[in-house]
Amino acid sequence: MKKLLIKNIKLLVQVEDSPKHVVRGLSMNILPCIENAYLAIENDTIVDYGSMSDWQGISDWSNLEIIDAEGKIVLPTFCDSHTHAVYAGSREQEYVDRLHGLTYQEIALRGGGILNSAARMGTATEEELYTDAYARIQKLIRLGTGAIEIKSGYGLSLETELKMLRVIQRLKLNLPIAVKATFLGAHAIPPQYKDDREGYIDLICNEMLPQIHTEQLADYCDVFCEENYFTPTETIRILSVAKNYGLQPKAHANQLAYSGGVQAGVKVDAVSVDHLEYVGDTEIEALKKSNTVPTILPGAQYFLGLPNPPVRAMLEADLPIAIASDYNPGSCPNGNMWWMLQHACVAYKITPNEAFNASTINSAYAMGISQTHGSICPGKKANFIITAPVPSLNYLLYNFGMNNVEAVYIKGEKQI
Ligand code: NIG
Ligand code: FE
Repeated sequence: MKKLLIKNIKLLVQVEDSPKHVVRGLSMNILPCIENAYLAIENDTIVDYGSMSDWQGISDWSNLEIIDAEGKIVLPTFCDSHTHAVYAGSREQEYVDRLHGLTYQEIALRGGGILNSAARMGTATEEELYTDAYARIQKLIRLGTGAIEIKSGYGLSLETELKMLRVIQRLKLNLPIAVKATFLGAHAIPPQYKDDREGYIDLICNEMLPQIHTEQLADYCDVFCEENYFTPTETIRILSVAKNYGLQPKAHANQLAYSGGVQAGVKVDAVSVDHLEYVGDTEIEALKKSNTVPTILPGAQYFLGLPNPPVRAMLEADLPIAIASDYNPGSCPNGNMWWMLQHACVAYKITPNEAFNASTINSAYAMGISQTHGSICPGKKANFIITAPVPSLNYLLYNFGMNNVEAVYIKGEKQI
């Protein structure tokens, strides 16, 4: 057995003795931490933690590595519960077009946006998609991402959606971190179904979902519920069929307008509804009566210049907010979770404690892995970040855009 002991940790963050599901509302400002702490790992699992003053010493030195973390902070790796990290090519021309005044919707209506990525996806090989995504995600791991959800949705045909999901499956097998796969066939109406949206939705429900189920290629099903994409009624239909095939629902909701996406997600008991720039009292009331996790995607809100989601109002309403990156080539070409938290604090006036809860315990729940990820807890995976020496936990978000990660461990193995 391989053993690892980290001692003299200045601050050990997000500790718990047994896994919670979520942290809600104003209690998200409480982040359980221990000063001057130790953390003990056996093989890939956390076995113990505590204050250095309670440390019993070591009885068995065989196979033991000791790390002195004096002045450094140790925290659980981030769980990124919403990404589109498998994609072909990049879309910086659309970024420049937006700088010249075009909107995301205008670019989409002239065939850009998701359809631009779908066209490139069609010609990409499985091998290049896999190699590119693997390298992309390796970079995120070095920044502290320890679990990732990845969506299809640039295929928009049976064959190419399956190609994307097979790539995600391969990433699941080969990456050191946990990967969850989400089928997002309902990301846009493909050009060949422009005048037959019903036909495309039938294809999703009658051909894509059964095949994905047969090949066990996805954990979740997602729909982009928005004007010019999919209506709440269509969203409910697709997600209900997906549930029958054993895929748990998620939704892209209320990003560009009060689209009814939140209510549609709640209606099918979605695990999460994500984006939420256009959320008012009605949406908050619907969420309060549900188990659905409202997930904020700060990168896409920032990059598209959208209004801030009303995060403080959602916290006042006792909702369990999650934060994820939405890493994708159009609305957020960035998967750095530190940046997501830093922007969320400044723009939405949330505290660092709230941001860390949102991106660890709550986002772990939003991707179905809270029993094994999201906190420093005996029995959970030994996934954690060791920072450079820093003055405090708050400093890590205050020092925006800078990288204070010194080491990342996944299942007890050092990644950098
Ligand atoms: O989450 N909103 C829809 N889908 C993605 C963007 C996809 C794209 O533009 O390629 C998102 O922002
Ligand atoms: Fe997204």
